[in-house]
Amino acid sequence: RIAYVNGRYLPIDAPAVQIEDRGFQFSDGVYEVWLVRDGNFLDHAGHLARLKRSLGELRIDLPMSDAALDIALRETLRRNRLGDALVYLQVTRGVSKRDHAFPVKPVRPSIIITIRPAPRAPVAARAETGIGVITTDDIRWKRCDIKSISLLPNVLAKQAAREAGAFEAWLINAGGEVTEGSSSNAWIVTGEGVLVTRPAGDDILNGITRQRIIRIAAAQGLRLEERAFTVEEALSAREAFISSATSMVMPVVSIDGRPVANGAPGSLAGALRESYEAGLE
Ligand code: PDD
Repeated sequence: RIAYVNGRYLPIDAPAVQIEDRGFQFSDGVYEVWLVRDGNFLDHAGHLARLKRSLGELRIDLPMSDAALDIALRETLRRNRLGDALVYLQVTRGVSKRDHAFPVKPVRPSIIITIRPAPRAPVAARAETGIGVITTDDIRWKRCDIKSISLLPNVLAKQAAREAGAFEAWLINAGGEVTEGSSSNAWIVTGEGVLVTRPAGDDILNGITRQRIIRIAAAQGLRLEERAFTVEEALSAREAFISSATSMVMPVVSIDGRPVANGAPGSLAGALRESYEAGLE
């Protein structure tokens, strides 16, 4: 595997990150994840736009043009000879003597791109059976809209899910509402067939997949409400699912071991997944 590191292409295990990189010491950076299918970056523009927004919120200046970044992304993919892949891009504030405040003299942000295979079969098989989720307190900070590399609460939540034999953890805020998953957005379909997902705000990451599903729903005349929902409502819903670049649309069939509806993947989730895979907007 070949990684892109600040303009160079290196073996993935090459020593490349400096001890005083602020990403390493402070999680002072942001990231993006793209799904690549047959060599095409899905929702490329949306991910780039969100990257810029995250960088802007942290006042990190990307030291390369969109065109140059695009070439680096594609060249890293090409060098890994993969058609179906996950692309990880990380930008940190750069290397500077450890001090919490920004470097006085601006430093060059560090840019890293890695690629890993993303075979379709395991994800498709998971979509056939559906996944279980657990619930856990949302203990994250108040700027979850920034795709920050500071992910400890998400890591702990995902680990709790894994230890419980579940695929994802739904994060519950102080009001008992589901904010989102540890690395995905959360959705339900009500008994009336209305798609429900939490509105974008500073308490969730506004998924690029989420935004695409909203466009698909509008184009197909589906009813959609952007509003909060609770675990109780999800348990009595007709369907539940998650969305993310890695999972696309993935049906949720149980929450904390209790079945959602009849415990089988829902038909609307399946249809949305097909629309998404077919590249519909
Ligand atoms: N995670 N919410 C959180 C907290 C996420 O980390 C992600 C994505 C999403 C969905 O966003 P999108 O549809 O743009 O992928 C929502 C990525 C995949 C990750 O951390 O690997």
